[in-house]
Order: sequence, then C-alpha cells, then structure tokens
Amino acid sequence: MSTIDLFESESAPTREKIGEEAIVLRGFASAAANDLLAKIKEIETISPFRHMTTPGGFTMSVGLTNCGQLGWTSDRRGYRYSPIDPITNKPWPQMPEEFFRLARSAAHEAGFNDFNPTACLINRYTPGAKLSLHQDKDEPDFNAPIVSVSLGIPAMFQFGGLDRSDKKINIPLVHGDVVVWGGVDRMRFHGVLPIKSNVHSILGEQRINITFRRA
Ligand code: SIN
Ligand code: FE2
Repeated sequence: MSTIDLFESESAPTREKIGEEAIVLRGFASAAANDLLAKIKEIETISPFRHMTTPGGFTMSVGLTNCGQLGWTSDRRGYRYSPIDPITNKPWPQMPEEFFRLARSAAHEAGFNDFNPTACLINRYTPGAKLSLHQDKDEPDFNAPIVSVSLGIPAMFQFGGLDRSDKKINIPLVHGDVVVWGGVDRMRFHGVLPIKSNVHSILGEQRINITFRRA
C-alpha cells in the first residue's frame, strides 16, 4: 500500500459546472467536515454501517447507514426507502440540523432553492469499494436535486448521461467537495470507481459520502 501526499489535498473553494444543472462545489463542506464526522460517529452507534444485499444477490462493497425520516435500503426484494432501520427495527437517527443546513445551502448555491431533504444516505468506502453506474430513481419526486458530500480519501466519481451507455466524465472528489445535480441532470447515470489505497489524516483509509435526497 502506498500512501502518497495526495491525501492531504483539499480543494480551494471553486465551482465546476458539469452539466446544465449540475455542479461541483469544491471545498464547500470543508469547514463543516469535523462536525459532520462527529455526528456520523453518533449516528453509527444507533444505526451501524452494514453491507446490504442487492436484489440480484450481490453484497455491496460500500457500507451504508442513514439518518433522517427515510433511509434507503436494499435486499433481495428490491430497493426502497423506509422510515425504519431493518437492523434495529427502530426509526433511523434524526438528521442533524448541521446536515440539513449544509445540504440546503449547497443546493441553493447550485441554483435549487428550498431543498427539503427527507433522506440522508451515508456511504462508507474502504480501498477497493466501488459503486456501479446507476440512476437515483427510487424517489417519488424527481424535482428535488441530489446533494452529495465527500469526506476522507479521494474518489473518482463518474458522471454520465441519461442512457447507461452515454459518455462519462471522471471527476476526482476530495475531502470537502460537494456535488449537486438536479433539473435536466437529475436522472444522469453516476457511480464511483474502485477507491484507491490512501490514508486521510482524520478518516484513515476511508471515504465517507453523505447523499441528501427528497424521498
Ligand atoms: C451515490 O450515488 O449514492 C453515492 C455517490 C458517491 O459516493 O460519491
Ligand atoms: Fe446515486
């Protein structure tokens, strides 16, 4: 395993348009990162990270948990949003106020006013973990955007088109970066390439992604 000094990189606060209504807000979550991570520690003591099974019978390499009114889950029966954590049989932990505020201000910054996320999926990647190309389509309302916060070691985010086979762009994401996509770009395919070995000064060999949606 090689640890290169890339791991200390954080973005300067710039914006990169990646679609008509899609943008990378570099460094947008940097200042809030430590608070977000402290809250995630609390969340995972209530609803731990787990490796879910896909309807096709595969075990996801990404560990997941949720906070908020609704949590995204997967099992042999399909993908869905549920107010109850299937492991604890209790509601998911509340969405911390800081999470809600950050998601709302990132959405606003990207041109989507009044974003009211009800679901917050927390993904944990270790080196080798990946997320295959997919669309976020389990939500009843595609008018609301998606806000996705990256923390920890870098990832290569793939952003494609409305058809699975459309050309994809590779976007490196580091600690503190936020991606927002909605409107005409809401249904674009996206995914995460296998995470490369690396070490982050706070999170060690982990990447955490927090995804806010209106479900
Ligand atoms: C997702 O599509 O749910 C997560 C994307 C990411 O981890 O950056
Ligand atoms: Fe997604």
